[in-house]
Amino acid sequence: MTDAATTTETVFDVRDITLRFGGVVSLRNVSMHMNRGEILAVIGPNGAGKTSLFNSLTGVYEPQEGQIDFTNRNGRTIAVIGKKTHRIARAGVSRTFQASRVFSALTVFENVKIGAEDHGGIGVVGAILRGPATRRGEHASDQLTLELLDFVGLRKDANLIASALSYGGRRRLEIARAIATDPDVILLDEPAAGTNPSEKLELAALIRRVRNERNVSVLLIEHDMKLVMSLAERIYVLNFGGVLAEGTPAEIRSNQAVVEAYLGTSTNEGAA
Ligand SMILES: Nc1ncnc2c1ncn2[C@@H]1O[C@H](COP(=O)(O)OP(=O)(O)OP(=O)(O)O)[C@@H](O)[C@H]1O
Ligand SMILES: [Mg+2]
Repeated sequence: MTDAATTTETVFDVRDITLRFGGVVSLRNVSMHMNRGEILAVIGPNGAGKTSLFNSLTGVYEPQEGQIDFTNRNGRTIAVIGKKTHRIARAGVSRTFQASRVFSALTVFENVKIGAEDHGGIGVVGAILRGPATRRGEHASDQLTLELLDFVGLRKDANLIASALSYGGRRRLEIARAIATDPDVILLDEPAAGTNPSEKLELAALIRRVRNERNVSVLLIEHDMKLVMSLAERIYVLNFGGVLAEGTPAEIRSNQAVVEAYLGTSTNEGAA
């Protein structure tokens, strides 16, 4: 499997965004770009603005200043700021959340099928009418669901109630659901938080396969530096809502400002 998947096409072009909540400035003049096919990481101390950036890229938050352009794999560009979250999701942006959002009362299969049906475009009306086309669609989403469970290594657990999964299993389930819509880019907010060292290795391998085998660009927030340094091809460091540094893992590791603001602290190695 080659790792040379990065292209020079831009997926996200973020220019000078500023996001405020009353007197709190969560993001100040943040500019970043993401190339299609890359595994890009955003790191930084607690409260630095990492999740705020993800929320801005997905339409959950609306920065008061700046511009965010997203370009899908067909070359269509949309301005993200001001668009509703479902429109941005439909355009090809998928995500997982910092706090696990598995539907714990549903089975593993049902959790992924929700994402797969969204992709199949069955919708609520179709589900009620239950015409032949819907049944064909349902068969297709069942097939896709099983394929995705296979991909993340959860097929044998398809009929388990999701709450019975290990923490690492839940994180893999969320990734399966997020890729069910066949997105261009997936945003993972601390995908390995709360998992043990062997689960972390499995997640890293899975994230690499998502990029390599499903052609999905990956944007990743993660506090575990071993994971970030081994997985990311490029890194942005946020601090107090601003971009402190950008570079390859080797460049970031040896950046004095980054070491002082973040890497030098003892809390980030393997912390949740
Ligand atoms: N909805 C909101 N209302 C008010 N303030 C907010 C809101 N969302 C984020 N903030 C503030 O923005 C700043 C950045 O928060 P954010 O959650 O983006 O940090 P983070 O880098 O993801 O931190 P962590 O590593 O702890 O997850 C914080 O000061 C936070 O309190
Ligand atoms: Mg966060």
